Amino acid sequence: MKIGIFDSGKGGLSVFDEIKKVLPEAEYKYIADSANCPYGEKSDEELMKIVKKNVEELRDWGAKIVVIACNTATTRCIERLREDYKDLEFIGTEPAIGLAVETGAKNILVMATPGTIESERLGSILKKNQKQDQKFTLLACPGLADAVEANKGIDEKLKELLTGVENVDCVVLGCTHYSLIKDKIGKYFPGAEIVDGNKGVAKRVKLLVENLWKNE
Ligand code: DGL
Repeated sequence: MKIGIFDSGKGGLSVFDEIKKVLPEAEYKYIADSANCPYGEKSDEELMKIVKKNVEELRDWGAKIVVIACNTATTRCIERLREDYKDLEFIGTEPAIGLAVETGAKNILVMATPGTIESERLGSILKKNQKQDQKFTLLACPGLADAVEANKGIDEKLKELLTGVENVDCVVLGCTHYSLIKDKIGKYFPGAEIVDGNKGVAKRVKLLVENLWKNE
């Protein structure tokens, strides 16, 4: 089974690692599209063009499943991709709002790119999951994915974004690049749970592979 994966660089490797753990025998191609990083600060039109190029490269390689290891590309593009490429199965990565709700936390901070924070899809995920006694704070983090991608200026960026953000008992890492700096983010919120959607994505990929095999 050929599985294609892409992200705007190395962030999606945090998802890829989880997928490999549950499906070690599949064949993989990973596109680290760092030339186009950051996805989170592009217009819909620009992003769609970039994302389609990656999808077509993976399809030409023979992928049957494409994992969008990027919250931005998922929240902004997945519906169109499913319409435009009916021969492919897409699995996306989305901010783990459901997981955060399950922790029972009362004050939940969602960190993501501007593109994800502004997406309609995040709005509807929140509407579907949010409980009355839970408060969500959405924090757009321009420049943070780039800093992680370049491995430069991460500490300064975190200080700028997170200083003064208080009373948080759960943090959702809504960008796959942020999972790579989970420990650094955790230092700002001692005692808070830090969650991402990476294990959930791996679980869904495994289920899909099993289903496709059954029907072959
Ligand atoms: N890693 C991506 C995400 O999960 C995109 C980061 C970016 O390129 O802005 O949103």
